[in-house]
Amino acid sequence: MRIGVLTAGGDCPGLNAVIRSVVHRALTGHGDEVVGFEDGFRGLLEGHLRALDLDAVSGILARGGTILGSSRLERARLSEAAKNCAELSRRYGLDALIPIGGEGTLTAARLLSDAGMPVVGVPKTIDNDISATDRTFGFDTAVTVATEAMDRLKTTAESHQRVMVVEVMGRHAGWIALESGMAAGAHGICLPERPFDPADLVKMVEERFDRGKKFAVVCVAEGAHPAEGTMDYKKGEIDVYGHERFAGIGNRLAVELEKRLGKEARPVILGHIQRGGTPTAYDRVLATRFGWHAVEAVHRGDYGKMTALRGTDVVMVPLADAITTLKRVPEERMDEAESVY
Ligand code: F6P
Repeated sequence: MRIGVLTAGGDCPGLNAVIRSVVHRALTGHGDEVVGFEDGFRGLLEGHLRALDLDAVSGILARGGTILGSSRLERARLSEAAKNCAELSRRYGLDALIPIGGEGTLTAARLLSDAGMPVVGVPKTIDNDISATDRTFGFDTAVTVATEAMDRLKTTAESHQRVMVVEVMGRHAGWIALESGMAAGAHGICLPERPFDPADLVKMVEERFDRGKKFAVVCVAEGAHPAEGTMDYKKGEIDVYGHERFAGIGNRLAVELEKRLGKEARPVILGHIQRGGTPTAYDRVLATRFGWHAVEAVHRGDYGKMTALRGTDVVMVPLADAITTLKRVPEERMDEAESVY
């Protein structure tokens, strides 16, 4: 078989591990050929591709980013392309396509699949917010990076008796804030799922200082926002890809806390540091398993689906299940985290 692979949307540690695994399983397990499209769906539409052999994927397991490059494409352009997907498959002699990506990529994968292209998706996002899979690779790395950053920030915060407001990624779901906040022992965690009241954070910091503690760390997801009427904060605007650009809750909250507390507060925006660099062992393993299962699904003709982790098993689930709703942090997980502030 001739299998195409591409990585689309925001990058994520573990993408290269999937590509490597697909190539190994396809070539050595089945005697297939693999081609990689460059810069996501753009490579597919514009004919930028290259053959991937074992040499091409040698030494990339631990490398962050994606050797194929990535891009975001407007929905309209993809819908247009879906109409010609039989032509696209013919043009490249493709028997199947494995797109690796987040919600936008899996939506595009479904479009192509509905139009008749044999597609098997692989989910990725550091945000861990894709439904139908317990975990996405990249998440563990992001949590590890954010946790280490907060561990470091605690020592400098204590030296200066400051409040550190650490903004982590998480547009619509606060998984990174929840788990890194818990792992680092943050004293407040703000998630998009539960609007916060800055007065509660002020109370928490004052109580800590009354107990003789000399610093506090608040972990805030970029998509978190204050409850109505509790603080002046305007949410961000929508960009050309339909993504909300946030107004900077970390900066805004640090200023607000400083004003209300009369103590120094500093914002730290971790941003893309959470997405860059080498994946953790957990993410390398999950990504490698997803790649293996994607190739097996291709050989079974199990199309229109994506790999997913259920418990400890990798299973195939319909692409439609992955994109209908976002996986948000449930109430109980937030309660668990709050009980150890
Ligand atoms: O979807 C993952 C994510 O890391 C979000 O948490 C974040 O808002 C977004 O990507 C930013 O991506 P970019 O800067 O590439 O648009």
